[in-house]
Amino acid sequence: MAARTPIVVGNWKLHNTIAQGETLVTELKNQLGTIRDVEVGVAPVFTSLSSISKRLGDSKILLGAQDCFYENGGAWTGEVSAPMLVDAGCSFAIVGHSERRANFGDTDSVVARKARAALDGGLSVIVCVGESEQERDSGKTMERVGTQLSATLEVLTSEDLERVVIAYEPVWAIGTGRTATPAQAQEVHAFLRKQMSQRFQGVGAGVRIQYGGSVKPGNAKELMSEADIDGALVGGASLKAGDFGAIVKACSARQS
Ligand code: PGA
Repeated sequence: MAARTPIVVGNWKLHNTIAQGETLVTELKNQLGTIRDVEVGVAPVFTSLSSISKRLGDSKILLGAQDCFYENGGAWTGEVSAPMLVDAGCSFAIVGHSERRANFGDTDSVVARKARAALDGGLSVIVCVGESEQERDSGKTMERVGTQLSATLEVLTSEDLERVVIAYEPVWAIGTGRTATPAQAQEVHAFLRKQMSQRFQGVGAGVRIQYGGSVKPGNAKELMSEADIDGALVGGASLKAGDFGAIVKACSARQS
């Protein structure tokens, strides 16, 4: 099976005006133009997508949304659908981020429907899973991430998998500065990969699994050196071109 190409995505969350986002991607284009062995993406707020798509032009940097609704259109005030994201220039969407799960009622089944809708609309999808601190402390990490992943796997076929990325993001490590150790992350990544391969054999085992949670230039390389960590979903550090660029380069160095 071909080696898994690392994928590093910046989740900008609720940050950056259109102008700030355009400046940031311009800097990223300049910094990352020569990197070929890492897939790079950014996920700005919905209102910036179309402008940033134009600014990215023919750059290899992928554009994605931070969420994607499960219906294509209709009376759903405030939502944005997969076809509309494609129309705005997106090629992927993130679903199931822990902030969506915790604050906006995105249950495992809602996340599965969103993943299905994103794929049906022509997008790739990053499906986030992760345990809370309490779940980790009570030994329930694998049970929690296993349940989250299997809800989405129910709606996938093996043909979908080349457009699927899993992101393991322990809730206690997001925005806290407290990163999972490479060994802690690797243990969960290996568990998730086993679950993928039990359901979809070799194609399942080939799905990329990103780590997310306080990834910084200083810890990216160490995390990437683990066998089952295939890149990073980066929040805070993706807002600075220098930091995000350094994380991408750390992932690139793995293969050189
Ligand atoms: P962080 O966020 O890098 O700021 O911890 C990661 C994420 O929420 O995707």
